[in-house]
Amino acid sequence: MEKIYNITIDGPAGSGKTTISKMVAEALNITYLDTGAMYRAIACYVKSKKVDFNDTDTIVKLLDEIDLKVELNQGEQKTSINGKVYGEELRAHDISNGASIVCKIPAIRLKMVDLQREIARKYSCTLDGRDIGSFVLPDAEFKFYLTADVDTRAKRRWLQLKDKMDVTIEQVKADLIERDERDSSRELAPLCVPKNAFVLDTTNLNQEEVMSIILEEVKKG
Ligand code: DC
Repeated sequence: MEKIYNITIDGPAGSGKTTISKMVAEALNITYLDTGAMYRAIACYVKSKKVDFNDTDTIVKLLDEIDLKVELNQGEQKTSINGKVYGEELRAHDISNGASIVCKIPAIRLKMVDLQREIARKYSCTLDGRDIGSFVLPDAEFKFYLTADVDTRAKRRWLQLKDKMDVTIEQVKADLIERDERDSSRELAPLCVPKNAFVLDTTNLNQEEVMSIILEEVKKG
């Protein structure tokens, strides 16, 4: 049996993590785990219960009834809670903000981290997130940190959102800055450059260029 290995890809919103993690997983024929989708699913559940994202006590109580499952099948990730599979709604604007608020709650993070570690033990995979190389899998075989200047990141996000909602680049940029600030300043497992991670500024690189740099590093072993 082939040795299991993990590639962690962390970075702020809009740095290109998700696209690149999927492309790298496909090129290497390994699994891709979108850890942000897990926090987003929790935010969807919290919203469905009409609980405020800042109401930590109630959310911690809800956690007992949350059975979050991740099914990975040929590049497709199904993230479900109590049997309900979450799709497009995971990407909604209020859910992006909600996820970055609920993910600060240590009980939520620790439960998600357990699941992420379990998946990483079973499968060779790329995992993207904020704390993967620093906290979830500090001993992963390959660790990357993607970044890009805030205007470039805002433009990328805006291009993804503009056909789905009425939003300006300025609004997207303001949201990104607020989310980065929340993700970087939380107490447990904040967004940071993991120790020994390969840092890649993607501002002036296209997806193929980023992927080939990552694959080159992975090949070096
Ligand atoms: O990568 P994303 O935009 O789907 O992530 C949504 C939110 O979840 C993001 O604001 C930060 C949080 N998150 C996290 O704290 N740790 C992770 N490993 C993944 C996401």
